[in-house]
Amino acid sequence: MKKMAVIGAGTMGNGIAHVFAQHGWHVTLIDLQAAPLEKALATIKKNLERMQSKGALTAAQVEETLQHISINTSLTESVQQASLVVEAATENKEIKLALFTSLDAAAPADCILATNTSSIPIQTIAAATRRPEKVIGMHFMNPVPVMKLVEIITTAQTDRSVTDTIVSYSKDLQKVPCVVNDFPGFIANRILMPMINEAICSLQEGVAGVTEIDTIMKLGMAHPMGPLQLADLIGLDVCLSIMQVLHEGFKTDKYAPAHLLEQLVKENKLGVKTGEGFYQYTPGSKELLVSHRFRS
Ligand code: CAA
Repeated sequence: MKKMAVIGAGTMGNGIAHVFAQHGWHVTLIDLQAAPLEKALATIKKNLERMQSKGALTAAQVEETLQHISINTSLTESVQQASLVVEAATENKEIKLALFTSLDAAAPADCILATNTSSIPIQTIAAATRRPEKVIGMHFMNPVPVMKLVEIITTAQTDRSVTDTIVSYSKDLQKVPCVVNDFPGFIANRILMPMINEAICSLQEGVAGVTEIDTIMKLGMAHPMGPLQLADLIGLDVCLSIMQVLHEGFKTDKYAPAHLLEQLVKENKLGVKTGEGFYQYTPGSKELLVSHRFRS
């Protein structure tokens, strides 16, 4: 059985572990502490059972997928036999650079080191290793078990065979790979984030309320969720950090983050993960409730 490791047990990490395990890989999910790893396993189990209840998986497939996943707090131990590592740690450049230097030292020489970064240049991450030709972006979308896209980001140094392998692995996961070049925000976030930021600017300027903005984009543009609800799902801290990367990378105020986005992040109102962003979230409730501060 092919072996891989996923670094980071957050929303993206547990989704990535889920899909690889479901498609026959032996996955080691790695994080610094046992608690987030246990929480990630419980989330994966819940999502697999949801798929079972919809008839997409059998009980045996759910059991088999769970058996393919192990958890570990030691990075060095976990990657020693991996042919692929996908890093999905916190979106922080220093953390990622340190991780890739450690991964480079611990993983087998032929192991591909992929990052799920949503905006940090792949070239910068690759430069933290002695194998830049084996470093590549493998950008999954949230929720990972549902979304079909894998945005694959290559640099001038990425080996062609590495790109071909990652394209082939993505297809094996029943995903659709799209290969793009290493520019700020790549393609997905260069287009998505300015739209979200513009929705936040429109709210901040009083052009319309939360419900109106989201309804217009849902019903008028056939988006599955409005930009403000999507920002809450992604995490407002992640949206802000991607806007900052675009702003610094392209050096134009076209990408300046909305003040309201900065304000909400300062107040730790980060969306679904903290229970409040543009909407308020109660565990177990599916009701979409506009946050107090945005009610007129
Ligand atoms: N695991 C497994 N299945 C899941 C799931 C999960 N975590 N979450 C939802 N599902 C399944 C449901 O079981 C359901 O399955 P069926 O169609 O078979 O019934 C289906 O997905 C739809 O779910 P729901 O009925 O609960 O809700 P919905 O119809 O409102 O869809 C959604 C939810 C799929 C999230 C949809 O609203 C959507 O596509 N939203 C946009 C998501 C998006 O744009 N993601 C990209 C964000 S950008 C990003 O991730 C990159 C970045 O760098 C920031």
